[in-house]
Amino acid sequence: MPCVKNKGKANATSPSDITKLFNFLRIKENSTFCDLGCGNAKLCIKSITRVKKAVGFECDAKRYQTAKKRAKKFSNIRIYKGSYETKNSLNKIRQVDVFFCVNEIDYKFLKKLGNVVKKRTYFIQYYLPSCPVKPQYKHGWYYIMKTPFRTAKTKNEWITSLQNGDLINLKKKIRSYFKKDYKERIQDLEEELKANF
Ligand SMILES: C[S@@+](CC[C@H](N)C(=O)[O-])C[C@H]1O[C@@H](n2cnc3c(N)ncnc32)[C@H](O)[C@@H]1O
Repeated sequence: MPCVKNKGKANATSPSDITKLFNFLRIKENSTFCDLGCGNAKLCIKSITRVKKAVGFECDAKRYQTAKKRAKKFSNIRIYKGSYETKNSLNKIRQVDVFFCVNEIDYKFLKKLGNVVKKRTYFIQYYLPSCPVKPQYKHGWYYIMKTPFRTAKTKNEWITSLQNGDLINLKKKIRSYFKKDYKERIQDLEEELKANF
């Protein structure tokens, strides 16, 4: 199963974002959190100050070793080595209440995940959700889906679900925020739209 070529930073997300998102979603204390692509486990460690258990998956061998070592101190954190996209991994996440992911998520995988987890499970995705899944909530560049996932039938329906505006506005927003790689992001968005609608 693929592990992205561009892994991004091991600690890409500020742990305080997890607190903000948990507050925003009013995540309950008895929840289980899962970071898909957990890097060095920083977010898993932060999450257990608020929830009862955390699970992380990491396919990069070195990062997995670091994550495992750091999480060893906590009996309620479990770090798995390898891709979260395998059948075996899906079997390990059935009880998760809140997923978090900063990687691009394949719709086929999201669909499979949606089929194995409980109803009203949150999936927090940094940046645009996989097309054609419609987010339930939006918090900055975090899009939040909830199971059972809802999908858009048209391009306009999907774009509207992402923001209050049209495709031109969305592109403008991407351009102004992601200064370095906005061209690539806009190209990816266009390809997604072409492939889905
Ligand atoms: C940008 S880092 C994010 C780390 C942390 N979740 C954060 O937000 O700070 C993304 C991580 O996901 C891992 N990754 C990418 N695809 C994966 C996959 N299919 N299965 C498991 N890990 C994956 C990468 O190796 C990388 O360490």
